[in-house]
Amino acid sequence: MIDPVLRGALALTLALGGCAWDTPMSTVKPHSDYAHEILHIYGIITWVTLGIALIVGFGLAWVLTRFHARPGAPTMPVQTRGHTLLEMAWTIGPALVLLGIAIPTIQVIFRTQAAPPRDALEVTVRGYQWWWEFQYPSLQVVTANELHVPVGRPVALTLEGPDVIHSFWVPQLGGKRDVVPGRLNRLTFTAETPGEFRGQCAEFCGVSHANMGMRVIVETDEGFRRWVAAQKAESPEPAAGPAADGKAIFASSACVGCHTIRGVSAGTLGPDLTTFGSRHTLAAGILPTTVDSVAAWIKNPAAIKPDAKMPALGLTDEQARAVATYLIGLK
Ligand code: CUA
Repeated sequence: MIDPVLRGALALTLALGGCAWDTPMSTVKPHSDYAHEILHIYGIITWVTLGIALIVGFGLAWVLTRFHARPGAPTMPVQTRGHTLLEMAWTIGPALVLLGIAIPTIQVIFRTQAAPPRDALEVTVRGYQWWWEFQYPSLQVVTANELHVPVGRPVALTLEGPDVIHSFWVPQLGGKRDVVPGRLNRLTFTAETPGEFRGQCAEFCGVSHANMGMRVIVETDEGFRRWVAAQKAESPEPAAGPAADGKAIFASSACVGCHTIRGVSAGTLGPDLTTFGSRHTLAAGILPTTVDSVAAWIKNPAAIKPDAKMPALGLTDEQARAVATYLIGLK
């Protein structure tokens, strides 16, 4: 038997462990129109249920103190049956509560599911085991795991799943939308604050589901234009040395079967690496883009992301570092 004090401390630790104010994945710090709408509903439900909890708690306390068994009193109190007013009250009460929650919820559903405005930036989101692809059809830009969007402009996502069901979720930008094979789902939001927002696949999709993160980088108009221009620019030819060696290894290995690097290869199974070096992270956000981590990833992807679809290519440390240097140079 655990000591009651210890048990109390344990319960408190577990309860407080769920509370953290400064978390990057918190829905209570909205940064888009959609996230504000969700917080609005969340607020209504929280206050309504808090009111109900108080009424029930005080009612229960009153009944327990007022009607507890007393010495000499009959053990069975007077029973109430078929009290019309009571029956009506506890039928109508819950219906009113549900109505109070349903009306604003339905309003928000209609507001957030409306067709995207004409000037919205269209992005196609594809969820793969276990990474994200973002295509900008109007800009001819393709990237992975890091979605760049301009602040203040509606972004219209079309979500499609080439393999299994995933779910796109960036809490501070609102919404959560399943990515379903054979179906096109839509999600529209307007980001309100420049910054970097973390997201996560929210539908169990296999061994590395928890490793399927993403980032949304909200930029100023100017910053977004610069990013698009950089994505479309040709990468300079790598200088002689490890980067040039890395390019030669990449071009002559199995890498080309799965990855596109504009002008070098045209594989489509894995992320497009044309501007790999411009991303802050790799492998769906689990590693920073440094030579060490990229080389470790190339050496043995499954050791970092269990069940990763990318095979280990049997490169030496030196070869892996050369390829990493080459890839990081692609901006
Ligand atoms: Cu993709 Cu979970």
